[in-house]
Amino acid sequence: MSHQTDIKRITAPEIARRKGGEPIVVLTAYHAQSARLLDPHVDILMVGDSLGMVMHGLETTVPVPLDLMIAHAQAVMRASERALVVVDMPFGSYEESPAVAFRSAARIMKETGCGAVKLEGGVSMAETIAYLTGRGIPVMGHIGMTPQAVNQLGGFAARGRHRAEWSRFEEDAIAVAGSGAFSMVIEAVAEPLAARITQEVRIPTIGIGASAACDGQVLVLEDMLGLTPRVPKFVKEYAQLRVAVEDAVKAYARDVRARTFPSEEHTYPVLDEAPRTAKKNEFSVG
Ligand code: KIV
Repeated sequence: MSHQTDIKRITAPEIARRKGGEPIVVLTAYHAQSARLLDPHVDILMVGDSLGMVMHGLETTVPVPLDLMIAHAQAVMRASERALVVVDMPFGSYEESPAVAFRSAARIMKETGCGAVKLEGGVSMAETIAYLTGRGIPVMGHIGMTPQAVNQLGGFAARGRHRAEWSRFEEDAIAVAGSGAFSMVIEAVAEPLAARITQEVRIPTIGIGASAACDGQVLVLEDMLGLTPRVPKFVKEYAQLRVAVEDAVKAYARDVRARTFPSEEHTYPVLDEAPRTAKKNEFSVG
């Protein structure tokens, strides 16, 4: 934001120190309006690449480009001043090599002013996370169900529901934490696995569909507001805005068709006084 305020933004190290403490509150924000509303109430505003699906109607997050993430993150930064803003690195912007990841992450940090980036992957991304964190870029990891791998996984189903799979996810978590990440998202896994991981790592875990055992929670804003037509099992709808929006739009359409909107209250009246003209020399200097 261009103006100076006394409010200090929450930093990635502050979030890291919250391990085992007061639960960390995270919501996604993709634009200025929601960022402004959410900022006083959350610890982290997450500019998730889910914006490709929620805002742009894509089937998956795979096609989301880096430029789009940067544009949305800039809007969120302009309208917030307190919450840590974490920006997702989109598919294709970091997997190739640590150096490629650094270039993409540096663009995100420089062009948005955000406080951290997030990337998906466990053991396979450990080297990249260490490369970024060793060069001044705070990284949030993301393990469990990793939506950018949807084509490899064959869908968005929950992971780690069989004990036999747990060690793989625990290895991912330990690799992410050991690489210097300040926190990690655990998405859509069975509760006992999330609880084990949360106990095993020294950084906060942020759950989405991963139970209350995590150190914090994240939801997609549009899901919890009841704007999304179909939501996963783990979403609690705290409002029914879909219904409210439909009712409002129906009422507006009815009023426009009946010519009852705009009424006098919403119409500019004619002014009786003559327009005020500048007095002689009023605007001249000296
Ligand atoms: O893309 C996203 O919004 C996310 C969060 C929900 C964790 O990754």
